[in-house]
Amino acid sequence: MYKFKNSVIAFFALFTIIYAMTAAMPHTGLGQDSNQNGATQLDCDEPPCNAVARGRAAFKSNLSHLGGNGRACADCHIPSESFQLSPATAKARFDALQMKRLQNANADDPLFRPVDADDFRIHGDNASDFSNLVENGLIRVTMPLPLNVKLIDSATGQPTNETSVDLWRAVMPVFNVAITGADGFAPTWPPGAPRLPIMGQDPNGPNRQGGYQHDARFATLQEQARGALFAHAQVTVEPKARLLDDLAAFQQTLFSSRGVKKLANAILSGSMPFPDPDTELNELEQQGKKIFNRACAQCHGGTLHPSGSTPETGIVRPIARYHNIQTPCPRPATDDFSPCPQRLARNARTYRITLANGATQTFTTSDPGRLLLTGQIADLGVMDVPQLRGISKTAPYFHNNSAATLEEVLDHYDAFFKRVARLNPPPNLPPLLSSNGMDIDRGFVTKDERAALLAYLKKL
Ligand code: HEC
Ligand code: HEC
Repeated sequence: MYKFKNSVIAFFALFTIIYAMTAAMPHTGLGQDSNQNGATQLDCDEPPCNAVARGRAAFKSNLSHLGGNGRACADCHIPSESFQLSPATAKARFDALQMKRLQNANADDPLFRPVDADDFRIHGDNASDFSNLVENGLIRVTMPLPLNVKLIDSATGQPTNETSVDLWRAVMPVFNVAITGADGFAPTWPPGAPRLPIMGQDPNGPNRQGGYQHDARFATLQEQARGALFAHAQVTVEPKARLLDDLAAFQQTLFSSRGVKKLANAILSGSMPFPDPDTELNELEQQGKKIFNRACAQCHGGTLHPSGSTPETGIVRPIARYHNIQTPCPRPATDDFSPCPQRLARNARTYRITLANGATQTFTTSDPGRLLLTGQIADLGVMDVPQLRGISKTAPYFHNNSAATLEEVLDHYDAFFKRVARLNPPPNLPPLLSSNGMDIDRGFVTKDERAALLAYLKKL
């Protein structure tokens, strides 16, 4: 008996040691941080380490106990790809699956589930056209329509009875999310005059100072994770609050660089002055940083924290968090925007919106942005401003992956700044172009400045 008791104690002691080792393993466990990219390293130095370890496991697990479709967060937010998904990877996985299916008809890759296939509405569970995923790296996101917005049937020109719409959006990298949620900064959205609610809907939408997703519709990482579990993993059981907390805890340890991690720690603990996350910059990159501050920081925050989430007074973000930079398709035919290729243009739908005064307006777009949260025409194409740290590793860019390279991003901004200046001539130049409304002293990147700005963007 005595002996037995001892061995039980010994067993428990051993168990405790093994458990402690397993919990501690992530310190060194998840790959080497060879390229200074914190995204591949699990940081478990700070409590709550157990929640982080559990969250890491849950992020990679198919969570079968929740009755899902076999998807894991990591199927789309791929750890070795800065926790996002590139079209090239989607295509490689699709091709590999087709090859495997030649041998085994039941071969599977949970990335390819009909819930995100682009002909889903017609073919239901038999959907097999994954072209938006394979060609564009885009995932189906289904959004309810506001009460005052109808879809128009292109064949008849008449409103349909659909109550939701399918959008196609890029998988966002989940690093730096510890500091990219709401920023609590004025001006809150929308700036300027108060709006009239239409059909009793909140005219300002949720999260007026920032949130998660391209349209910032979720306030917290928990809310976001719950949404992803239902929408992408098709779980059938309500996830426990602790699972959502664990996923949030894990994601909050993911950073694009050590510099951003230090900045996040300083922001979260309120210890001023905040460290600059930039690594040492050469002369060209320093020049690029100046250009960034002049042309981009109005929306992307200061260079200390390009998502604009820092409470540091020295780098106040002068304009509101949400903007329409004309990224959805089709693009304006003016100002030298490059037209959307057909593989993206085909995602456009025509909508009819009833305005506050009862008049209607019709528009065609691949993504109405925050309009779907507010029912306000002023929110057409309006998106959250993303953070830009680690951007060199997450091509292609924008919510619809419409810019293949950072060069194409700058081409887009050439057209965007031109459009803004044309529509708001002096004395009404907006703050993103002018400090006094009269003279253009912000925005506009000249051909000579490009190399420097690109060099800096690649250092972010
Ligand atoms: C099928 C692919 C897919 C799966 C699976 C998936 N996501 Fe996502 N994730 C996306 C897409 C697409 C977006 C952008 C959606 C939007 O803006 O409407 C996104 C956005 C996010 C964001 C917002 C990041 C930001 O900066 O705002 C977070 C956080 C996130 N996902 C976490 C998760 C977690 C946690 C899971 C697992 C529970 C998960 N995702 C599963 C595709 C996926
Ligand atoms: C008027 C506000 C505004 C200005 C000025 C601005 N941006 Fe943006 N930026 C945005 C918004 C909004 C998005 C999101 C658009 C989307 O996803 O479709 C964005 C997205 C981006 C992205 C894509 C990020 C990703 O993860 O896909 C890059 C890169 C970028 N901006 C770089 C720049 C650079 C460089 C400048 C300066 C030349 C700049 N931005 C100026 C508002 C702005």
